[in-house]
Formats: sequence, C-alpha cells, structure tokens
Amino acid sequence: MVTKALIPAAGLGTRFLPASKAIPKELFPIVDKPSIQYIVEEIVASGIRDIILITGRGKSAIKDHFDTSYELEDLLDKQGKKDVLETVRKISHMANIISVRQKAPRGLGHAILCGRPVIGNEPFAVLLPDDLIDQEIPCTKQMIDLFEKHQGAMIAVTKVAKENTHLYGIIDAKEVGERVYRIKNMVEKPPPGTAPSNLAIIGRYILPPEIFPILEKLPPGRGGEIQITDGLVELAKRAPVYAFEFPGYRYDAGDKFGFLQANIMYALKDPDLAPRLRRLLKEIS
Ligand code: UTP
Repeated sequence: MVTKALIPAAGLGTRFLPASKAIPKELFPIVDKPSIQYIVEEIVASGIRDIILITGRGKSAIKDHFDTSYELEDLLDKQGKKDVLETVRKISHMANIISVRQKAPRGLGHAILCGRPVIGNEPFAVLLPDDLIDQEIPCTKQMIDLFEKHQGAMIAVTKVAKENTHLYGIIDAKEVGERVYRIKNMVEKPPPGTAPSNLAIIGRYILPPEIFPILEKLPPGRGGEIQITDGLVELAKRAPVYAFEFPGYRYDAGDKFGFLQANIMYALKDPDLAPRLRRLLKEIS
C-alpha cells in the first residue's frame, strides 16, 4: 500500500531568478493557486494524506501556506467572506504535511533520501512540484494502481520531440501493456542523436524502499549531484522498474515558457477568465 508521498522542493530554482530569490518558485501562482497546491491536491485525490515536504533555506513560506492562518481566518469570518474563508480553511485541512530539511541542494536523489526516516520501509510516491499534470484521473492514482498490479517501481514518461531528448532522462524500454513499459536502461540527458528512445522521464515516481540504500551509496553524478536516474538504473538491475506513459497534458512550471503555458491553459478552464483571455489571444495573434 502506498500511503505516503514526497515532494522535493529544496532546489534553488535558478531558471526563475530573480523572481525565485526570496519567494520559493513552488509558490508562484498558476492563475490563483500556488503551483505546489495543485501537486498536493493530486496527492490527496490519489488517496494519500501524509506528505513529506523536502525543503531548504528560504522555503519556509511553503509550510506556512499549508498551515492554519488564525488571524486571516478570523478576519474573513468577521467580514462575512464565507466562500474565501472556506477556500483558505480547506488548504490547511487537506493533508498532513511533514517537513524535512535538506541541508544543501545535493540533487534530487539526495532530496528523496532525506525522506527516509519518515518513510521507513514502505513504497512511496514522489511528485516534482514543477510538473503539473492536467488529468481527470490523477496520474499518481493511475501509477499507484499499476504499481500494485505489476509489483515494481513505476516512473511516468511522456513522448518528446527527438530534438529535445537531450533535455530529459530517457528510457530504453520494452512495451509490456497498454502505456506500460518494462525499463532496460535509462540515460540522463543523452547527447543529441544518442537517445535510446523519445520517452522522457517526468516528475512522478512510485518507488519501493529498496531505493534508499542505493541512493545512500550512490556517488555524485551529472553536475556533481546525486541523481535519481542513476539510482533507478541501479534499482533496475535488481528489481523490475516500469514506465507509465500517462495520457493528458503536462506543464513544466519550473521553466519560464512552461509556467506561462500552464497559466494560459488553466485560465482557459476558468469560466470567469476564459472569454476575456480568448479575446486577448485572438487580438494579439
Ligand atoms: P531541478 O533540477 O528542476 O532544480 O530539480 P531546481 O533547483 O528546482 O530548478 P533550476 O533548474 O535551478 O531552475 C527538480 C526538483 O528537485 C528538487 C527541486 O526543488 C525540484 O522540485 N530538488 C532538486 C531538491 O529538492 N533538492 C535538490 O538538491 C535538487
């Protein structure tokens, strides 16, 4: 049973400087909600309530966002703003957020390893807060079901254009079911023209606890960081590792263009904003 999810949010967010200098990029709004709230909502909609948030220096505001805000709630109550009060209250009640500090940004693999004392000997989900996935059935829920069916680690992948494979971790895999692949190997950011496929790893994983001792012994990889992909390559030598090619849209909100794209696409789903935004898009094109 997968009962815990980990969100690594201790990265520096250099692609968003200077905006991310004092404000965690995970709190940048996609329309009117911080991007990380979409991730927490996906976790909750997948049946998980215990969330391990990996934070670092300057990320305390993320914890405040998911905490109760007594003064604000009291004020909204006195002002009779019931709807917005309900919205604010829901945020602090939807999940148990357990925060763990990563003392230095030593890589995604290291950030995941920081969750070990809280996760213990259980399988768990990992969701990168940058990757927003718009889907009716949450991607994480589908992956948990597949994890239980196949009894092996599950990694989300999506098809990318051949000329973009050097930007992602790419899998070498064999299709074993509808949208499910058994992974033979993985390469982190392969040089152009050398990628084994166009299936790119994106920010959703269901991992067994056996990943922890592997990450603990892993030497720093690309960029001097402990890379989760290197850990998964080791795991695949010992146990089955699968990929799930999820249907639906994914936006990389940690990248400027992906962030703008996410804002436009989510705004187009908002009945108040959509007509005006459509008019504007038509005007400027
Ligand atoms: P990224 O590689 O996207 O790094 O990390 P980043 O720091 O967030 O952003 P850029 O590239 O500098 O703009 C992928 C995920 O792993 C987390 C990040 O917070 C992000 O969610 N991470 C990365 C950590 O928690 N710790 C790390 O040491 C590295």
